[in-house]
Amino acid sequence: MQHFLSVRNLSANTIETILERAEVIGGTREQHTGRYFAANLFFEPSTRTKMSFVVAERNLGMDTLDFHTETSSTAKGESLYDTVRTYESIGADLLVIRHANDNWCDELGSSISVPIINAGSGKGEHPTQCMLDLYTIKQEFGAFQGLNVAIAGDIKHSRVARSHVSALKTVGANVYFVNVPGFMDESLDIPSLTMDEACTMCDVVMLLRIQHERHGNGACDTTSYLEKFGLTIERERKMQNHAIIMHPAPVNRNVEIDTRLVECDRSRIFQQMENGVAVRMGIMDYLLAERSVFV
Ligand code: NCD
Repeated sequence: MQHFLSVRNLSANTIETILERAEVIGGTREQHTGRYFAANLFFEPSTRTKMSFVVAERNLGMDTLDFHTETSSTAKGESLYDTVRTYESIGADLLVIRHANDNWCDELGSSISVPIINAGSGKGEHPTQCMLDLYTIKQEFGAFQGLNVAIAGDIKHSRVARSHVSALKTVGANVYFVNVPGFMDESLDIPSLTMDEACTMCDVVMLLRIQHERHGNGACDTTSYLEKFGLTIERERKMQNHAIIMHPAPVNRNVEIDTRLVECDRSRIFQQMENGVAVRMGIMDYLLAERSVFV
């Protein structure tokens, strides 16, 4: 594997191997004693993804190189490609990139030799979020085969949903969408459920944030969203005893989920964040060992 840009071409075997690597290496520290630099190039806002990469990199013994669009040459008009070539030239061993362009991975994947991890490509993919969600599901249920997973909300603008559709199918889960008018993606051929049906029949109810910043026409009205499409207390009561709630966060409290459910017993929202460190360690260790960067 040259880069970690997408989950689309990962086999079930590779996914399992990375999850196992995360389980073994997560919670450990200072694995590699050479001088390695990881650059975190976030061109879009991030709290948990960026910070869990930083913690994961430091746990692996890497030095981290920071980047801010406002104070870098991006503010002078430098392109993504030239920024990335610069970090490559000055000695970064690993590049973690998030950028609003859906297709940046295609351009950089073929022209950059340093390993790149996709930390979010526009509305395209979010493969490390997908892997940490798979890890969380496996932690809960032990396996994926036959699990019913509902993904609910702003699917059209979600890179998380696009990664999940592919990876969950690869590992044998059944994926359903809870579609919301205006937020559907007809190009994805996934059976749909109402929110009430999803709560009654699914093992995992995964909520998505309304991603106003990707709509292009400003924030939409969310006044009756929770009652119509969100996870209310009444709907949560219909969930099976073993069923869990997930959300990649940040959460719009009282929009896609009643605020009282964010930290309820069946919510795994903060567990997902905690798992993000171990899983990103697992992904980096897998990638860098394969590329013989770590010796
Ligand atoms: C997601 C993202 O950036 O795509 N967040 C994350 O990385 N945890 C989802 C979102 O922003 O709603």
